[in-house]
Amino acid sequence: MILSLVIVLIFLLTIYTKVSSFSFSLSSSSSLSLSSSLITLNKKRIKTTSVIMTSTSPKTSSSSSSSSSSINKPRLSPMVENMAISKTIEIHALTKEMERSGKTVYSLCVGEPDYQPPNEVIIATADAANKGLTKYTAVTGELSLRKAIADDLTKRKETPYTPEQIVVSNGAKQAVIQALMCVACPGDDVLIPSPYWPSYPDMVKMCNARPVSVRTSAKDGYILTPESLRQALQSNPKASCIILCNPSNPTGGVADLENLRGLASVLRDYPQVTVISDEIYERLTYDVPHVSFASLPDMMQRTITINGFSKSHSMTGYRIGYSASSTPIAQAVAKVQSQMTSCASSIGQDAAKVALMEVKETWMSDRVKELKEKRDLAYSLLMKIPNITCPCPDGAFYLLPDVSKYYNKKTPDGKIISNSHELCFELLRSQGVALVSGDAFGCDECIRLSYAASKELINDSVSRLGIFLTSLQ
Ligand SMILES: Cc1ncc(COP(=O)(O)O)c(C=O)c1O
Repeated sequence: MILSLVIVLIFLLTIYTKVSSFSFSLSSSSSLSLSSSLITLNKKRIKTTSVIMTSTSPKTSSSSSSSSSSINKPRLSPMVENMAISKTIEIHALTKEMERSGKTVYSLCVGEPDYQPPNEVIIATADAANKGLTKYTAVTGELSLRKAIADDLTKRKETPYTPEQIVVSNGAKQAVIQALMCVACPGDDVLIPSPYWPSYPDMVKMCNARPVSVRTSAKDGYILTPESLRQALQSNPKASCIILCNPSNPTGGVADLENLRGLASVLRDYPQVTVISDEIYERLTYDVPHVSFASLPDMMQRTITINGFSKSHSMTGYRIGYSASSTPIAQAVAKVQSQMTSCASSIGQDAAKVALMEVKETWMSDRVKELKEKRDLAYSLLMKIPNITCPCPDGAFYLLPDVSKYYNKKTPDGKIISNSHELCFELLRSQGVALVSGDAFGCDECIRLSYAASKELINDSVSRLGIFLTSLQ
C-alpha cells in the first residue's frame, strides 16, 4: 500500500517537473493550447505572485487589474514628486530647441562665464589624463588640492581652515546639499533670503526640512538686513540653519563688511543656527570687497563655507567645488559623500590645483574688469527702458530688474502678461530673447539677465527686451 502510494507520488512529481519546465520554454500564444490542468497550474502561480506583491507593494497590486496608463506611470517617491525641476535648466532647454529649429536666440539666461578656463588649466587637464590620474581619489579629495585650498582660504579670505576641514565635491551644488544633509534635521526650518538661488528650497525639502524664505527688498540692494534676520529668527524658532549667498545669484548683490557684522551680531543670540555661506561668486566683485562670513569673530565654527572653481575659473564642466567647515561637520560631510559619489573627478581635481597654484592673479583681474564693463553696458541699456527698476549690483554676473509695471498689459497680438513666467515666454517667442523668470528665484516681479556674454549679445538682447516691453499696451 505504502509502496504504491510512493510510486504514485513519484509519478505525479515527474509529470509536474516536466510540465513546469515546459511552461517556461513556451511562448504566450502557444501556452493557450496547453491542457486545462497546466493553465490552472500557471494561474495558481500567478496568483501566488500577486499575493506576494500585495503584501510588499500595495500600489502595484491594486493596479494589477491594470490599465496601460498605470503601467506607464512608475511609482515615484514623494521626495521627487514634491521637487520642482530647475527652471533655469527648463528655459535653457527650450532655447536649445529653438536654436535647433534654426531660430536665432539671444540668450542671457545661463549661469556660467562665456570665456574659457585659463590655458594652464586646459593644459593640466590633458596632462592629468596622460599622467594616469584616472583613478578614484580619497573621498574628500587629493590631499595636495585640499592643502592648496586651505592655503588659499587662509591667505586670501582670512579663514585659516586646515586640509582636514575641506571636502572637495562634484561642484559647489553637491557641497551645498551635503552641508544641508548634515545640519538640517527633519522638521527643522532653514532660512533662505529671497530672491534666492532656485536649488536651495528644493534641497532643503530633500532633507525633510522646511524652507522659509526671508524677503529682502530692492531698496537694500536685495541684501538681508540684520533687522529682518532677527525678525525671521524670532518668528521661526525651529530655524537651525540659514543659507547666505554672497555675492548673490540672482541679484548680483554683495553684502559688505558692515552688513555681515550686523548679521553676525544677531546670530550670536542664536547659537543653535548654522550658517551655510555660499561664496561661489566671491572672486567676481567690483566695487565692494568680498568678506568671507567665517572670517568674522566667532563665526568660523558655526559656518560651512561653500566655494569652487565653476565661476572663478570658468570651470563649470569640471564639476569641482568644496565645503570648508569645522572638523566634525567636515567628517559628517565626508561620510555623506562616501555614499553619494565617492569622490570628485580625479582629472578635475588636478586641474583645480593648477587653477589655484599656477594661474596668475592678472588672469582673474582681467576677467573681473571685462565683467564690470559688461555690467555697466547691460545696466545702462536697461536703465533706458522706461518703468524698470534695478539696483546696480556689485558682483557675480546677474541683473535682476523689476518689470512688474508691465504686468497686466497686452502684447500686440492680444496676450495679457500677468507674471514673470508669461513675460519671459512671450519675450522668447516674439523677440527670441531668453531670460529667466523671477518666479524661479521667489521674486515674481523680476526677470534675471546674465551678462556673462559678448557685448554684441548684451546690446541685441537688452534692446530687444526694450522693444518688447514698450510694445505692451
Ligand atoms: C549660488 C550658486 N551656488 C552654487 C552653484 C553651483 O555651482 P557648481 O556649478 O560648482 O555646482 C551655483 C551655480 O549656478 C550658484 O549660482
